[in-house]
This record gives sequence, C-alpha cells and structure tokens, in this order.
Amino acid sequence: MERLAGIRSTLDAHDRWRASTLNLIASENVLSSAARSVLDSDLLHRYAEGHPGGRYYEGTQFVDHIESETEKVVRDLFGAGWADVRPISGTVANEAVFSRLVPHGAAVVSHTIAAGGHISHARIGSLGKRTRQIHPWPTQADGYTIDVAAARDLIAREKPALVVLGRSLILFPEPVRELVDVCRENGTLMFYDGAHVLGLIAGGEFQRPLEEGADVLCGSTHKTFFGPQRGVVLSRGVDGDLDGSLDKGVFPGSSSNHHLFSLPALYVAAVEMQTFGSDYARATISNARALAEALARRGLHPALADQGYTSSHQVALDVGDHGGGYEVGKRLCEQDIVCNMNLLPGEPSKNAMRPRGVRLGVQEMTRFGMGPDEMDAIGDLLHAAITKARDVRDEVHALRDRFPEVRYGFSPADLGAPSPASA
Ligand SMILES: Cc1ncc(COP(=O)(O)O)c(C=O)c1O
Repeated sequence: MERLAGIRSTLDAHDRWRASTLNLIASENVLSSAARSVLDSDLLHRYAEGHPGGRYYEGTQFVDHIESETEKVVRDLFGAGWADVRPISGTVANEAVFSRLVPHGAAVVSHTIAAGGHISHARIGSLGKRTRQIHPWPTQADGYTIDVAAARDLIAREKPALVVLGRSLILFPEPVRELVDVCRENGTLMFYDGAHVLGLIAGGEFQRPLEEGADVLCGSTHKTFFGPQRGVVLSRGVDGDLDGSLDKGVFPGSSSNHHLFSLPALYVAAVEMQTFGSDYARATISNARALAEALARRGLHPALADQGYTSSHQVALDVGDHGGGYEVGKRLCEQDIVCNMNLLPGEPSKNAMRPRGVRLGVQEMTRFGMGPDEMDAIGDLLHAAITKARDVRDEVHALRDRFPEVRYGFSPADLGAPSPASA
C-alpha cells in the first residue's frame, strides 16, 4: 500500500531531520529511552475515569497502581499536599482551574500576551470564557516586570477572585512572596501557571510557588519537565474545598479519558526529576545565561540586559534590525536551527504575527548534554545565520551529532524485568 508507506517515510524523515537540528523551541523537550520504552502498551486503548480505587470502569487495577505512585512522586517534587496527574496538557489543567475557581464575570488579574502571558490566560482563551474582567498586571517601564506596589494596590482595590502568575515568556521568577499577603487579605486565590518552568521548579533552582504561598500550581510536563505531553494540577493540600473544586474541574470538568498510555512515562520522568532534576535545572539556567552572553558579545541584543537577561531556560532575542522574528525564525529553520518568533518583553500585542523577537530555549540541548562551550558555539551559529554572514547547516549538524544521547535520565534496563503479574 503506497499510501501507507507514505506515512512511515514521512515520519522517518521528520525524526531524522529533527535529530540533526539544534532545537531551541522553549516549550519542548525529549524523553529518556526509559520513558519512551513504556509508551507503547495496552493502556493505549483503555479508560479509567475517576480516581485509583474509585473508578467508573472495571479492569483498572494496574493503572490504579501507576497513577497513585505517580501522584506520590509528583507531590513530593513540588512540596504539594494534593496532586492531580490526569490533565492531558497544561491548557487542560488551566481550564480545570479557571472553570472552578473563577465565578462568571468575576475580576481576575493576569499577564497580557505582550507581557508574556499565555493564550489560555487571555480573553480569547480559557480564562476569557469565564470573565471579561481581566485586569493586566501593572508593569515597570520595561512593560514586563510586575510593579509590585501597583499590583498590591490593584488587588486591594479590585479584590479579584484569582490572580495568575507564570507566563510563556518567563525570564525571571514571579513575585509570589511579595503578593501572598495582599491576596490573603482580599480573599484572592493565587494561581501559578508553571507550564514552562515546571522542571526548574522541581529541580529547586527557580522558585517554589507552593512553598512561597501560591494556592494552586499547574504545569505542562514536557517543557523543562522530563515527561510526555501532559499536565498537572497541584495545591498545598490545606483546603479540602479548594481541592474538591480542582478535582471536579479536571474530571468531569475538562477531561474524560486521560490518555492512560502516557502515565507510565510520566512516572519514569518524575523519578528522573527526583534523581537528576537539580543538576539539570542548574545546567539549564546557566546555559541560558551563557547563550545570552554569547549573543551579546557578538553584538546581538538579548532582552532585559539590565536584569542579567534570564534566570530561566529562555532567552528573548531582539532581531528587529535583522528582519524581525518572523523572517529570522524562517531563516534559522532553513539553517536547521529551530525556534519561534515571539513578542519581546513589553512589545505591543498587535505585533504578534510580526514581532521583533525570537524566543530561544536551551532546555532540550541541555538534556542532550550540551554545556557552556556549546552555548558559545550556538551563539556563534545564531549570529552567523541571523546576520547572513555564512551558511551554517553543516556546522549545526556537526555540533548536534556530538550529542546523540539523552542525559539526566534512565535506560530501559533500569526499569527491571517484567513482573510475573504483567506476563
Ligand atoms: C504559560 C503557559 N501555560 C500553559 C501552556 C499550555 O500548555 P500545553 O501546551 O501543555 O497545553 C503554555 C504553553 O506553552 C504556556 O506557555
């Protein structure tokens, strides 16, 4: 069947090409061989609505074990008293939160897209389905950094039901500690969307939102976290009513079947985070700084230089003088360096389709074992490609070829022999 062979060869071509590229998309990562090895199982075909021990379906005894073990490890990683690992993505996790914690028409505060907010925090996304009263966080002159004094005034004045911290362009920790008290005094729940930085939080190298006082933490499990594409909802576990609402928000509020096949891979990834997360998070953040500095040394302009560019896995690079983010993103992709166009901090959202910036993330290349020397080399390749100084494809492939193995993870042999129960 020629038509069927087409899908195989297209997929193989994708895999071969991606393995030859420098992937700097800030929202992506790769699975270890151990996590990949547990993706293909009978769980691809099954349902398990409800919770372990309280399902609406029979036949779930093995997945019950996997799900409750995953919850335990995830709770431990984030200092959470309560965790739900069923959301199938970060957006679904956010939907679960907003649908239960934001009464219709209530006041909320969140980041604008221009300040790096995610589409699910916007009028056109999940939050906008609940309310049109979305107040933007007041910012300092850079249009990005929260002005804490003005934010406190805003919360005291509007008494929002919920505030949203965490963003898609997240270069520095958010002022959780600084805003916790004013939220408590005004009956406001603090929600931290850690989609991007979940692995850095787990590694203890960014900030610890729940321990700093946030009420709810959500995230994607596949950006800086080591997992397959899923989401999590977490809380401190001190308020049963809150946890009950979140629970209903996940199921039946925003999911039914919860893609059981990828739960074992999430479990493996969570244990990898416990084992290697601290080293990985440290290496990732120092690589991001090294990349920003390498770009600046070559005359390019990473954003927020006065704050030291970044404390996360991301760098926002101003390429307005080189054709803008759309053109440069395409130019880089032709050279097998993959990233995405992005508004710079504070750039007006009307520029979204033709922004001045590109967003660069080093978390995937760090997972392949790259360090500061390679960040300098990538800075050089980016500079040459952006300024059209030379063709760099061969150099990109040569650099990438030196780092074929996923690090900071386990191998299938570490998972042990199949148990008699599974035979
Ligand atoms: C801040 C933020 N929240 C939520 C999401 C959505 O995550 P997912 O793609 O897992 O649905 C993203 C995606 O990049 C994000 O940046």
